[in-house]
Amino acid sequence: MNFPAHPHHPPEHARLFYALWPDDATRAALMSLQAGVQGRKVPAENLHVTLAFLGEQPSRLLPALIDVLQRLPQPDMVLKIDRLGYFRRNRIAWAGMSEVPAELTGLHQSLSELLRDTGMDIRSDSRFRPHVTLARDAPEAPDDTIVAVEWKVKSAVLVRSMTAPGGSVYSVLAG
Ligand code: 2AM
Repeated sequence: MNFPAHPHHPPEHARLFYALWPDDATRAALMSLQAGVQGRKVPAENLHVTLAFLGEQPSRLLPALIDVLQRLPQPDMVLKIDRLGYFRRNRIAWAGMSEVPAELTGLHQSLSELLRDTGMDIRSDSRFRPHVTLARDAPEAPDDTIVAVEWKVKSAVLVRSMTAPGGSVYSVLAG
């Protein structure tokens, strides 16, 4: 008999999302912003901006989802991460932008369209609120003033999320 799969991670499914993944220097700069927030800090290696969250998907869709990434115009933009913020409902302290550049909104729209063309049922009603989650279970809003981090974005990636005893473990599948 096969060893039973973890109930939340049947091997034929994967929890997936598209993201902007920071280079090492940007990651270090984002990590320094975590000093200004309370709550359960996200491990440095997990810091990112989600472009589209897919949730649990059949693994057989992976080739099509990687193809979407390859058809996506490769981004070439600078994100000026210049403020902290707070999502009260899910107690997330985040770093983000006072003004979201048109290139980023465009990238999100292109990705959404490619995913729809692929038959992915992604919600179009949810507003795109790009952010880097810095801490979870944050009791209150952080002071929003920070020294801006300039993040040069060169590519988007497809990421798999797995829940481990110590928290989420992300692995970049393509990009
Ligand atoms: P969060 O950091 O704001 O919670 C992996 O879980 C990534 O997907 C995280 O960036 C997370 O955003 C995002 N994510 C998780 N569930 C989501 C959902 N239902 N809708 C949008 N994004 C989600």
